[in-house]
Amino acid sequence: MEILKTVNLTKTYIDGREKKIALDNININVERGDFIGIFGPSGSGKSTLLNLLGGLDRPTAGEVYIEGQRTDILSQSDLALYRRRRVGIVYQFYNLISNLNVEQNIKLPLLMDGRDVDLDFYKKIMELISMEDREKSFPEELSGGEQQRVAIARALVNKPSIVLLDEPTGNLDRKNRDKVLELLKFSNQAFKQTMLIVSHDEDLVNATNRVFHMEDGKIIRDVVLK
Ligand SMILES: Nc1ncnc2c1ncn2[C@@H]1O[C@H](COP(=O)(O)OP(=O)(O)OP(=O)(O)O)[C@@H](O)[C@H]1O
Ligand SMILES: [Mg+2]
Repeated sequence: MEILKTVNLTKTYIDGREKKIALDNININVERGDFIGIFGPSGSGKSTLLNLLGGLDRPTAGEVYIEGQRTDILSQSDLALYRRRRVGIVYQFYNLISNLNVEQNIKLPLLMDGRDVDLDFYKKIMELISMEDREKSFPEELSGGEQQRVAIARALVNKPSIVLLDEPTGNLDRKNRDKVLELLKFSNQAFKQTMLIVSHDEDLVNATNRVFHMEDGKIIRDVVLK
């Protein structure tokens, strides 16, 4: 089943007098359960693509469809609901809320919706990211890698149908990186989630089933691995 589609998705920025094309007519079709790696040099448009898919920003031209529904023209409040209920997002810079502790940060998307937290899944996540003893810590008391793992937990805990991750393993040592990959694979398979992961980590290719290679705002290669 097709879960995500873009039609001629384009984003341009005006920088002084120059027009900068950050995304150039992107057409993608993504199936439910796809685990997609997005690779490409700095500035090639990876974060811009994720931001448009996640409804954090609007395209200059083109369309985004999630489960058949056009999302790029939703009102601000409908977009906020869409983000909270249907997508899990891990930002390139983690965006934790500084006056909430680890547990509150992770559970926030569910609590805002008055929905129950699956406590078994929450515990499993905390163990896999080795943060079970840090629930009461605040973001400023955590290392970069720890904050990154909390941001990943927050994106997964409400079992969204689409998970967008921007460099989720950039700050992790090998052991934690392997654990995060294990968690992502588990969540992808257990809940048939669609995942798109921006990364510079070549080993991550082994976990994916499709790879987009980006350059100059375009997807120059789309490789289906298995
Ligand atoms: N708000 C903005 N205003 C102007 N130009 C922008 C803005 N955001 C992004 N760009 C430009 O758009 C292009 C794509 O940026 P983007 O952040 O998507 O790259 P990226 O592939 O994620 O790079 P990195 O690997 O460094 O994170 C870059 O040339 C960038 O300078
Ligand atoms: Mg980026």
